[in-house]
This record gives sequence, structure tokens and C-alpha cells, in this order.
Amino acid sequence: MLRELGYVAFLTLFVIPLQAQVPPALPSSEKSEKNAKLPPCRACRVLVNSFEDGMRKTERNKHDGGDAAWEEERLGSYKTSEVRLVEIQESLCNDVTRGSSQCHNLAEDNEHLIEEWWVKHQTEEPDLFQYLCIDQLAVCCPNLHFGPNCEPCSDCHGNGQCKGNGTRKGNGKCLCDAGYAGEACTECALQYYEAFRDESKILCSPCHVACLNGTGCRGAGPRNCNSCAKGWATLSGGEKQGCIDVNECLEVRNACQRNQFCVNTEGSHTCINCDRSCNGCSGDGPDLCNTCADGYELRDGLCTDTAGEKREHYVTMTRYLTYLGLCIATCVIFQSSTWIASLVGLAVALYISVSEYWLSGSTTKGTSPTIPDHLMEELRGK
Ligand SMILES: *[C@@H]1O[C@H](CO)[C@@H](O)[C@H](O)[C@H]1NC(C)=O
Ligand SMILES: *[C@@H]1O[C@H](CO)[C@@H](O)[C@H](O)[C@H]1NC(C)=O
Repeated sequence: MLRELGYVAFLTLFVIPLQAQVPPALPSSEKSEKNAKLPPCRACRVLVNSFEDGMRKTERNKHDGGDAAWEEERLGSYKTSEVRLVEIQESLCNDVTRGSSQCHNLAEDNEHLIEEWWVKHQTEEPDLFQYLCIDQLAVCCPNLHFGPNCEPCSDCHGNGQCKGNGTRKGNGKCLCDAGYAGEACTECALQYYEAFRDESKILCSPCHVACLNGTGCRGAGPRNCNSCAKGWATLSGGEKQGCIDVNECLEVRNACQRNQFCVNTEGSHTCINCDRSCNGCSGDGPDLCNTCADGYELRDGLCTDTAGEKREHYVTMTRYLTYLGLCIATCVIFQSSTWIASLVGLAVALYISVSEYWLSGSTTKGTSPTIPDHLMEELRGK
């Protein structure tokens, strides 16, 4: 019965948790990267980039000696040769991590188009992206164009992105950057103010943290807030208009709990626990206590751990009592057998010298030595 129980306990404690932690066998993130499906224009861009990498890798050094004219002719023909195309296509998409399956499929489906460009159009249209992705497959648009017919994007004045930029998707409207608003991103968003403007450019900067969210500001700094945020007081009238930080540590009663001290911050405050030697404090460290905590006494302006000292005394005391006990045990044994007692006595003397030596050598005081097993056995057995 006990054995069965022990077996069950062993199973529940060790084997089952181990099995639960066994990770799934396949590195699924790698697989999902490979099978990731990119938007059509992006996928075409990936294929073209990989192809162009291949072209770079198959480039030959033009000036490695020899007859220049002959070299020129030979390289000229190599440049657009079938041999080089095959070489490029062999490693096409192999360097792609994200969406590599899609890249391989796309390359396979459009092998004829790539070959046609290679043989017929490469010289007059050197941009494979333009040829394949924009003209032939019609999945991309030129930069700053969008939609099925590649219409020009809205002008976002450098403060936003055109939706559908460079693809056959989107609506060409502006997606303004943080801080900007309006159809053409020529206005400042809420909680931003206009820091600069000329005919072509506008620059918006965030309002100061002192300004209440949602109410905005007229300019930089806490003086230009329309309303003050929580933790900031409103100053009104004349030069001294605006928001000023409230020092919660001074102005709020019991801003912190007991045994913490208060640090004012812009718009708020933080409470930090006092040193463990303190019972209430005005700052960090054992020298800034209001009064000392239990077990600590004020010495030279610092709250000092007296309980720890008492603990050490107590440990020393018990150590000597242990020695005394060992000696008495030896005396008791002495009455029945002299030679065992002398043996034990020798061991006890050895133990005491070793542990005293060890204690005087160790820096951490107050830990008592453990009695060696063989000594314990000897004492118990006889
Ligand atoms: C459009 O896309 C190109 C990269 O394809 C980028 O450099 C440019 O900043 C984008 N412009 C806008 C307005 O979205
Ligand atoms: C201000 O309020 C808006 C919503 O009204 C919120 O999205 C935004 O995060 C807030 N900003 C700050 C700094 O709290």
C-alpha cells in the first residue's frame, strides 16, 4: 500500500509536470514566417529584391586583366545570357525568410515574364520592379501613387503617409503623423500647438504636461495652457498666468502612508518606503529617521540594529553550552569505558578546536557549526 502511494506521489510530483513542460516538436514560428502571406505588391517587391540580389552575386569583375575589347564582348553577352539567368533563378527566394513560400510560387508562376524581361527588355527597361510589379502584374504603383489606376496621392505636406502609397490599394488620403490633423496634415492635432509655419511647411509640438488633456494650449510651456491638468494649480492675472506644479508633499495632508517619505514630482508625487531601521522618516537612509524602528537604537545619529547584536550573543552562548554538553557526555561515557571515552574526548576536542578556528576565520559571525556526521554517530552509538 505504502509503495503504491509512494509511486503515485512520485508520478504526480516529477513525471507529470515534466511531461506537461515538453514543448511542441516543431519550431512553429519559423514555419509560419515561411508561410506568411504578404500583400501582393509587397510580395512582388520581395521577389524583385531577391532577383536583384542574385544579379549582384553573378556580377563578374570587368577588369581582371586580359584583352579589354574581348572581355567587353564576352561580359556583354554574359550579362544577358541564359547561363546567368539560370544561375540567378537557382537561388531565387532562398534568402527570403518571411513569405518565402509565396516568393517561390510567384517566381514559378511568372517565370516566363521574368525570362522575357531578361532577354528582350532588360536594356531599355532596366528596372525589373517597374516591368514586373507595376506594368505586367499590376500589383504595385509608382511611388506616391495609389489605387487600381495608380492615381496620384494627396499631398500630406511631409506630415503623414498616403494610404495605398505605391500599391494598387488604398484611397490616397493622408494618414497624419502624431500631432498633425486635417485632410492634408496641415493642422495641429489636439494637445499640440503650431510651433512653425510657412507656405510649404508646418511644425506642431506637444503641449506641456501641465495642460489638461483635451483642452490644448496656445504655445510652449505651462504658461500657455488653456486649462491646467490634475496636480497643477491655475495662476491667473498679469505676467504670472498659467499652471504651476502643486507640491503635494507640502500641501496635501498625509500624502503618503506611515513609514514612507514623500518626493514631489511634476504634476504628482511619489511615496518611498523608509529605511527598515526607521519608524517614520524624512528621507532615505538610516540617518533620516524620525524615530527608530523596534529592535533599533539611535547611536551616533544612526538607527542601529541592536536586536542583531543580541542574536549574536545568544548564538555564542548556545555554542558554549553545546561544548559543555559534549564534555559532560564524555564524562558519562568515561564511567563505563575508559578507552571509548578517550576516543570520544579526542573527537570532541578536535571538533571544538576546528569549529572555533573556522568561526574566527569566517567573516559572517553568528552561524553555528554543524556537528560532523561521524562524530554524531559515535556519540549516539556508544
Ligand atoms: C511613399 O512610399 C515611399 C516608399 O515606397 C516612402 O519613401 C514615402 O515616404 C511614402 N510617402 C508617403 C507620402 O506616404
Ligand atoms: C488624452 O486623451 C485622449 C482621448 O481623449 C487619449 O487618447 C490620450 O491618450 C490622452 N493623452 C494623455 C497624455 O493622457
